[in-house]
Amino acid sequence: MKHVFETSQWVDNVWGKIIDKTERNSSLIGARFPYASVDGAYNEEAVDWWTNGFWPGLLWLVYESNYNKELLAIAACIEEKMDKPLIEFTDLHHDVGFMWSLTAVAQYKLTHHSRSAQRALTAASHLAGRFNVRGGFIRAWNAPERVGWAIIDCMMNLSLLYWASEHTGDPRFKHIAMAHADMTLQQFIRKDGSVHHIVCFDPATGVRAGALGGQGYGEDSAWARGTSWAIYGFAISYRYTGEPRYREAAQRTASFFLSQLDGEHAPPWDFRAPEESKHIRDTSAAACAASGLLELARLLPEEEAAVYIFEAIKLLKLLDTSYGLWDDRNEQGMIDKATANYPNKHYVETPIIYGDYFFAEAISKLRDWFGYSLMDQTDRQTHCGYW
Ligand code: GLY
Repeated sequence: MKHVFETSQWVDNVWGKIIDKTERNSSLIGARFPYASVDGAYNEEAVDWWTNGFWPGLLWLVYESNYNKELLAIAACIEEKMDKPLIEFTDLHHDVGFMWSLTAVAQYKLTHHSRSAQRALTAASHLAGRFNVRGGFIRAWNAPERVGWAIIDCMMNLSLLYWASEHTGDPRFKHIAMAHADMTLQQFIRKDGSVHHIVCFDPATGVRAGALGGQGYGEDSAWARGTSWAIYGFAISYRYTGEPRYREAAQRTASFFLSQLDGEHAPPWDFRAPEESKHIRDTSAAACAASGLLELARLLPEEEAAVYIFEAIKLLKLLDTSYGLWDDRNEQGMIDKATANYPNKHYVETPIIYGDYFFAEAISKLRDWFGYSLMDQTDRQTHCGYW
């Protein structure tokens, strides 16, 4: 019990630091689209960039805990700005789930704003429209040469489809999500729980044509954040469908992820990176995996859940103590050393908005968890982070 109490105090303390940094950033960043922190300040991306949901998602998480109306106003304003790509469509891509789950779905869940539900349904329809029936996959990206490509990241986009089916009572969105999840299970997840980043299909026949390293080291390697997308994405699919094969996939990828950690450092950018770059870290993979492990834990019986909670807390404590940027008031990022794309040397070992978001989301889950468990050990309901 003493251990539980100490961890709950640590959770409260970290949440205080998250609120502090987010409220300070809200006046610096405002209703813009931050992606990576460079020399202490978040940059700004175009309105259709895939990470644009994470900053408003963070604002919603904090708003939920303190009802700071200024944060709500900024998140709502960002959502409105994002109508441009949603209406114009041209550059819109598969990552509409990342973008509109953490904006429109979040706002709808928290305020019942009807326009937010319309936006989320529009985005879900776009995502459903990218489904290749022959190959059973949702197409990634837009370049003509990528017409037959699917990527592991897209597992996180499926929650928008599951939500759309629940909201409308029409199972078609869910059918597409499950077809894509089944394809991913067969084509991306290896026996040992490591995953491919990209799998290519003949778009006309749906026959598999090969795999690519993408943001990982190579075709047979194990991109760390890709593994996290698989853990969390399959846990979400299990939550919405109750299908044991998705729980097994989340557990297999989680076992692989956890078996690769050394306990002292965040994961390398790729678990099978060559020696010369293995020291390059990706804390965002750890933050996303931790939140995914907590998602998995809330769906499992207590004895099975315990190990995932333990490992998630270990990861989050490591991120807080070894990578947390709490004391530097000139730094907008929270968690240092996230890596966006090592092969392209694009934002290597710097704070990235999704690393900050998943860290905060995981801590908010623990807050709920400890808040409830101190009062009532049997109520294990926790935050599910708008997915
Ligand atoms: N979804 C792209 C990435 O994880 O960097």
